Amino acid sequence: MKNCKNILITGGAGFIGAHFLNQMVPKNSDTNFINIDILSYASDLNRLKKIESLPNYKFFQVDICDKEKVIEIFQKYSIDGLINFAAESHVDNSILNPNSFIKTNVNGTLNLLNISYDFWMKSPFNYKPEFKNARFHQISTDEVYGSIEKGSFDEYSRYNPSSPYSSSKASADLIVSSFNKTYGLNTTISLSSNNFGLNQNSEKFIPVVISSIINNYPIPVYGDGKNIRDWISVKENCNAINLIFNNGVSGESYNIGGGNELANLDLINLTYRLIKKYSKEKIDDLKIDFIDDRFGHDKRYSINSSKLYQKLNWDYNNSIFQKNFEQFIYNSVN
Ligand SMILES: NC(=O)c1ccc[n+]([C@@H]2O[C@H](COP(=O)([O-])OP(=O)(O)OC[C@H]3O[C@@H](n4cnc5c(N)ncnc54)[C@H](O)[C@@H]3O)[C@@H](O)[C@H]2O)c1
Repeated sequence: MKNCKNILITGGAGFIGAHFLNQMVPKNSDTNFINIDILSYASDLNRLKKIESLPNYKFFQVDICDKEKVIEIFQKYSIDGLINFAAESHVDNSILNPNSFIKTNVNGTLNLLNISYDFWMKSPFNYKPEFKNARFHQISTDEVYGSIEKGSFDEYSRYNPSSPYSSSKASADLIVSSFNKTYGLNTTISLSSNNFGLNQNSEKFIPVVISSIINNYPIPVYGDGKNIRDWISVKENCNAINLIFNNGVSGESYNIGGGNELANLDLINLTYRLIKKYSKEKIDDLKIDFIDDRFGHDKRYSINSSKLYQKLNWDYNNSIFQKNFEQFIYNSVN
């Protein structure tokens, strides 16, 4: 890591945070990664087996809303960088229970911002010399922009979230920006499209599709299945997050799009074809169970990532999708 030596990773036992740690901890032996996670239902410490005994990695079960415990970690490890992956992340759960989304995603982020400001800065726009490069990076989502029929959102598009989940993420982003504008806190935000990869929580769309196909169950699909999502492999997203954390300009946001928009039914068909190709088990004909549409279901997400290519020389090529997705399905069934 370029500027930060003791990085606090929040939510690192979750899907994306764990991939990030597995990618970054072994290849940055001069940087300490301190992972705090509340260990909610969505977490799994087994995702971190490969790195758990490395000397530059530590884990603590801590809630990001817990002021005293987070301060203790900042002090003990002299934290000089933070990447906030921790979140309640499942849209359906947010429709059933918005409160826990506001608590973790909004209040939890505010708590981390307050602690970072107090620990790194003497007063607004005045960093303590030993923390002059300290940075707060917020992990956000393309869902904050809401749905778009044609074209794509860029970083200057209006936030227009639909679900309690995306509203809570949008709120957190605005508070992060306010700490940059009001106090001069060094912040960056990355907004990625949907991630796919191994070890995702079983409640998410692709794991549901894979397990339904393998077990010969009907796949539950909201509405007409024509909702469009953009997909990126979790590994590519983590590389982009790393690029932004290290080289992004303070106060800026960067979209991380996969450049692979697919209607849910097309993604199901692709997944089915690949499972049939690679599975050693007998796979029945595809069965789909169209269910009542999700309330407030966004029709299409689309983001423009030109800024990341142009300003930070992102070297991602979206034609890698087919290969990445095929490898992912192969690994999932073997
Ligand atoms: N998965 C995607 O496709 C996707 C796309 C764009 C953005 N994001 C964002 O990326 C981040 C990570 O997503 P994910 O898919 O890995 O989510 P996840 O649900 O798999 O993991 C979230 C992790 O955060 C932890 N956590 C929850 N509340 C906490 C709290 N109060 N204190 C400490 N830890 C807490 C959980 O225990 C879990 O380990 C989230 O901020 C999410 O909004 C995800």
